[in-house]
Amino acid sequence: MTTTGPGATNPVHGDMDQCRPVRLPRLAFGGDYNPEQWSPTVWREDVELMRKAGVNLVSVGIFAWSALQPAPDSFEFGWLDQVLDLLHAGGIAVDLGTATANPPPWLLAAHPEVRPVTSYGIRLAAGSRQTFCPSSPVFAEHARRLVGELARRYSDHPALAFWHLSNEYGDHVSSCYCEASTEHFRRFLQHRHGSIEVLNERWGTTHWGQIYRDFAEIDAPRQMPGPANPAQIADFRRFSTQAIIELVELEKAELAAAGPDIPVTTNFMGMCPELDYWALADRLDLITDDSYPDPLDPRAAVRAASSYDLMRSLGGGAPWLLLEQAPSGVSWREVNPAKAPGVQRLWSYQAIARGSDGAMFFQWRAPAVGSELHHSTMLPAAGTDTRIYREICQVGAELSAIGEIAGSRVCSDVAILMDWDVLWALDPDTAGERTMPSALLRWRTLLDPLYQAVFERGFVSDYVRMSTSADQLARYPVLVVPNAYLLSDDTAAGWAQYVSGGGQLLVGPFSGIVDRWHHRYAGGAPGPLREWLGVTSEEPWPLAADEQLTIRFADDDSVATVRIWAEWLTPTGPDTQVLATFVDGPLAGRPAVTRRRVGDGFAWYSSVIEPEGGPIVQRVAAAAGLRATDPGQLETVTRRQSAGPVGNGIADTETFFTFLLNHSGESVVAPAPAGVDLLTGNDTVDAVLLPAYGVAVVRHPARCRPAPAGTDRPSSTR
Ligand code: GAL
Repeated sequence: MTTTGPGATNPVHGDMDQCRPVRLPRLAFGGDYNPEQWSPTVWREDVELMRKAGVNLVSVGIFAWSALQPAPDSFEFGWLDQVLDLLHAGGIAVDLGTATANPPPWLLAAHPEVRPVTSYGIRLAAGSRQTFCPSSPVFAEHARRLVGELARRYSDHPALAFWHLSNEYGDHVSSCYCEASTEHFRRFLQHRHGSIEVLNERWGTTHWGQIYRDFAEIDAPRQMPGPANPAQIADFRRFSTQAIIELVELEKAELAAAGPDIPVTTNFMGMCPELDYWALADRLDLITDDSYPDPLDPRAAVRAASSYDLMRSLGGGAPWLLLEQAPSGVSWREVNPAKAPGVQRLWSYQAIARGSDGAMFFQWRAPAVGSELHHSTMLPAAGTDTRIYREICQVGAELSAIGEIAGSRVCSDVAILMDWDVLWALDPDTAGERTMPSALLRWRTLLDPLYQAVFERGFVSDYVRMSTSADQLARYPVLVVPNAYLLSDDTAAGWAQYVSGGGQLLVGPFSGIVDRWHHRYAGGAPGPLREWLGVTSEEPWPLAADEQLTIRFADDDSVATVRIWAEWLTPTGPDTQVLATFVDGPLAGRPAVTRRRVGDGFAWYSSVIEPEGGPIVQRVAAAAGLRATDPGQLETVTRRQSAGPVGNGIADTETFFTFLLNHSGESVVAPAPAGVDLLTGNDTVDAVLLPAYGVAVVRHPARCRPAPAGTDRPSSTR
């Protein structure tokens, strides 16, 4: 093994300003480990079998609060001391949980007000997990005490690789509506708006007679007789992220006081709609993700790729870590299908291809009790002579042999906007009370077809924020904005500058409607984008769930079907090119997709959701000079290692690792760069034969992708 042990470090995260270096094994391999459920004899067997499987990192103690603090004034660290010592002796590093993911029953019994309250006013019962209100001062005080004790005891433990705050913040409970939360919300509003007059103005409380005299009159948006004020909903969702951030800061302060150099993470849940991950990511040293694609979903690989691109982007392009995935089936879907042979390995490599420095699982050993009894595990109940354990051992052995990949950066082609304020505006999630033109127009409804169109052409996407500057965007030949319903003048100006500098900006429908305070832009949509996009969207044209329209592209007369959404669009100048036109229905003859030259680039506006096959993205990418491929079920992603020890005679130069991932159940001949397949040791010339669900990782010296034709714009891939 080249990579085991807490001593072997991975110097990732150069780009995450102010981040501490992460003491990861080179490529991490392992999973959640819950030794408190087992006797010490089992621990010893665990470490032995982990070593056999190539495990070099485990996540410990995540749900162990009641085992660590069995009563208000007694702590029991003896078992954890032993476990960490055993793991360390076995060369296994530890991602140590702060154990605050579920308060102990004694705390909930003594302080029932710690239990969260739903928007219907129901206080949730104890007996599951995540039974806490993020704004509860009692919870915060007890969490602080526990984390302080843990930090002082284990900061210097040689097994400790990094701290793991709570678990999946926002899972089960992302917002609490209790009195403490309402008080906290009022303080948040006071800080955000300064005075009640400003809040009234920003919230537009003259509508429906909601003018407030005092912050004390404002409630959390619990269930109301009718629709809530959208500005109130928006502020509450932002507040809910802020409440979590305050817990993050509280735990981090305790950890830093005892050991300032230990990196901190918390595990994310892909593109979680509940919490603004940009804001949370800024507080972490390492981005980690839990990923549970549905084996029955034909788009599972695309959706997972999208999450992984987000994780990488949250860390500014630095390697991140897949902290949880299922070795086979999960236990929380209606039906929980197993992963076919090879799929666990394929999906592990997919995450690594997209920037994860390892592949971890939930969880190590099959439990004998509890609500996750039927979830697959690395070590199944049937023991080591099992398909799952063998496949785990295979991946563990492979990852230990390809540690040279660790720290390398993913080569990307295209930028896509991700913004939670927009997501929250489109998906207000207010239990049936509607205020938008169509409840069918949601963030993922807009994003997913665009992402898929990019993915299916073999391009790799980074996600960018609203605040990403024109200079930072300039490295991308294409910027895709699935939607900018809510938009500031500053962002619009930055995008205009990006386009003038030669970028291709594709803006999706129903954009430029309101400013950041949810006030409608005067003069019609798309607001501050209108002038340089060269269109006015006069009227939204939502389609019924079963309705569809046809659009025809002017350049090749091809047609596409659109659903869910259309708009009554009017070009505002002679230089606006109409690229596609509605063919049927009341919009027949009107523009559906337009573009306009702005400086050296083009600003594209689509009034429809990207149709199947991605015809709009196809045209935008071609205009940017990006060379599309037709990969079918083959996913190809390249990571680049800029310098450092790469082994096998190639040193001190840029080295590339191209991952070829066959997502189909059939074998394929995959075009490959000339190099060496690190998994087989075979030389590659121009292709590799991949079996069903097969993977190759080709190390090669040449750049990832040929320079785009017809453009001299520097691509981010080089
Ligand atoms: C995750 C969670 C784990 C485990 C897993 C099961 O959401 O973090 O603790 O419950 O799901 O799939």
